[in-house]
Amino acid sequence: MRNLSRVIQDAEKKKIAIGHFNISNLEQLKAIANAAGNLSLPVVVGVSEGEREYVGIPQITSLVESYRAQGIEMYLNADHTRSLENVEKAVCAGFDSVIFDAANLPFGENVKNTAEAVKIIKKHSSWKHQVLAEGELGYIGTSSELFDAIPEGASIKDENLTTPDMAAEFVKKTGVSLFAPAVGNVHGMFKNAPNPRLNIGRIKDIKEAVKIPLVLHGGSGIVDEDFTAAIGAGISIIHISTELRVAWRRALEEALKNNPNEAAPYKLMPGVIKAVQDVVERRMKLFAGIS
Ligand code: G3H
Ligand code: ZN
Repeated sequence: MRNLSRVIQDAEKKKIAIGHFNISNLEQLKAIANAAGNLSLPVVVGVSEGEREYVGIPQITSLVESYRAQGIEMYLNADHTRSLENVEKAVCAGFDSVIFDAANLPFGENVKNTAEAVKIIKKHSSWKHQVLAEGELGYIGTSSELFDAIPEGASIKDENLTTPDMAAEFVKKTGVSLFAPAVGNVHGMFKNAPNPRLNIGRIKDIKEAVKIPLVLHGGSGIVDEDFTAAIGAGISIIHISTELRVAWRRALEEALKNNPNEAAPYKLMPGVIKAVQDVVERRMKLFAGIS
């Protein structure tokens, strides 16, 4: 299997992006594996600190390994890691990438803490098992949920977005290999409306300034044309979580309503897996430019 940085390089050449999908249960993971298998595309599975604690680190690494053994090009990312202790745990467990998230802190502290995390990640990274370090600059909220209003403090106005100069300084001082900016994206999605539009020009300027792969967080609810333009401007990985959670919940409610006497998970869950898989496949196709 190619390592993750090779997959990203190949995506950059093809001007496509890789889908990153968060999971916290077996059904979501199966849905992602089915989608990646059907489309023969690489995929990144993300687990935040809370998701890791719920699923279990040895459990998720073993499951991902089992899908790799079946020929699925699946990578594992330690998403939104906020402590150095958890960075160390993830790299020791064999994750392919770790995001150190200090985006809520002032610039200087973000740089200092992220640089420490990068040192730990690089110490454990080798030619045999490479681990990529991602850093974030610009606060975009924290929760993958349905909301009525933009999360407080999230940077979506042009004057609050990540600037190319700060991005370049952040990347230089921290040594990250992947960079996640605030370019109009927010974690979570509106209940009945699309998310705010992305600033495509800003993505292009940041890409030119940092010259490393860019990651777009908060993908749920973004309109298709913004995704396509963002990929053209330099985004290489796109994170989606809320859309999967919503599909999971709606399909589960439907399955329970339609089968009031059924108690066997393996009979109730196939429809749930299919609903999540449909979302993943739709997003993966769009990111890979498959119509
Ligand atoms: O890291 C996770 C993501 O950025 C997901 O964001 O819930 O808005 O799709 P989302
Ligand atoms: Zn995120």
